[in-house]
Amino acid sequence: MKVTVGVSGGIAAYKAAELVRALQRQALDVHVVMTEAATKFVQPLTFASLTGHKVITHMWSAEDNSDNLSSAIEHIDAAQTTEALVVAPATADILAKFAHGLADDFLSTLYLATTAPVIVAPAMNVNMWNHPATQANLETLGQRNVTIVPPGDGYLACGMQGSGRMTEIPAIVEAVLGVLNHRNDLQGQTVLITAGGTREALDPVRFLGNRSSGKMGYALAEAAERRGARVILISAPTALRPPANCELVPVVTTGEMRDAVLRRMDEANIIIKAAAVADYRPRIKSDQKMKRTGPLTVEFEPTEDILSEVAARKHPGQLIIGFAAETENVVAHGRDKLLRKGADAIVVNDVSREGVGFDSDRNAATFLTPHIALDLQEMSKRQLADRIFEEILTLRRPQSLVAE
Ligand code: PMT
Repeated sequence: MKVTVGVSGGIAAYKAAELVRALQRQALDVHVVMTEAATKFVQPLTFASLTGHKVITHMWSAEDNSDNLSSAIEHIDAAQTTEALVVAPATADILAKFAHGLADDFLSTLYLATTAPVIVAPAMNVNMWNHPATQANLETLGQRNVTIVPPGDGYLACGMQGSGRMTEIPAIVEAVLGVLNHRNDLQGQTVLITAGGTREALDPVRFLGNRSSGKMGYALAEAAERRGARVILISAPTALRPPANCELVPVVTTGEMRDAVLRRMDEANIIIKAAAVADYRPRIKSDQKMKRTGPLTVEFEPTEDILSEVAARKHPGQLIIGFAAETENVVAHGRDKLLRKGADAIVVNDVSREGVGFDSDRNAATFLTPHIALDLQEMSKRQLADRIFEEILTLRRPQSLVAE
């Protein structure tokens, strides 16, 4: 399993050699990327000798000048093939670049280009560590699901005492192993996820829709993929890019979503219905654009309830997880849907709350089963997706899920 150690320019850079060795002892294939400043503290040759791999220090290596394209491809490959990026030491400068999306050297470009989990082990002067700018950058990175292994207290290279010393190597190794193990707990499973808001046409130019952006469903798809699952993402229209390896099944209407879900559900061990599905469609769709002729009355008919149908057809061992978007008596309404629709669990979210729910990058929810009601406090949708999978995995262990 390939792991990339990013070394930025601080006195603790020498400790990165020890980190490389410790990760290799865990049977990991370690590659190293250094910032230019890091090379002032440790020679790339040290890491090349330890790892047996070329150390990337620049966007365009000097020897690649004649063939920048192959250099670029090699660098993109580094982003795509690594299973984790661990930056140790992470200076205030590299944290700021990550937080603000700057990509002016290879390490910061790699951070933007990779979808692998990222771990940072900050190391810096105590005042730099305590500075509100650094703390704000760490807050931003935490919200984006970067794992931060905080520095310890002690005497610092600058002669000051306090927080800022890079934490001990075993704590960093533990964090790396934590994200890697985490990634494989859905290995061998197929997860079917619905996302986005379905649309019901009134005429060729107008539709009845809802505020779903698809972010929650896509975050679940990404998390499932990170954890090793094969993912089928049945998605109503969104502006999002689907995760790299998932199988995207685009749909528009509730009827199309129903057909796709019923067609593919037998392949799945876990089905998660995060889509916001139209409950009604116009009884008649006009073939031509409707003209403005005064008050308009449209008759609606109920759509199919996909979640109920899926729950009724589920195989033994399959897990069916619904979502519920509520604006009042959230948990009570969620529990009512859990029982009425026959799902194994419902993730109920209060979509009237500011800053969470529809279209936001953040969400808060309660994970409901017939026996539990677990509060999942506000966090990024990416983090929530992982928390939801942790709960799903506790519902039933892989050996009792349906056979492939
Ligand atoms: O997409 P985002 O902008 O990130 O927003 C996320 C979200 C708010 C859409 C998501 O978190 C969410 O709550 N999704 C479910 C929305 C919804 O349709 O809830 P509901 O309470 O109306 O439906 C309950 C469940 O039944 C859902 O799993 C829904 O997919 C399903 N359903 C609903 C109606 C229907 N005709 N068929 C269904 O299968």
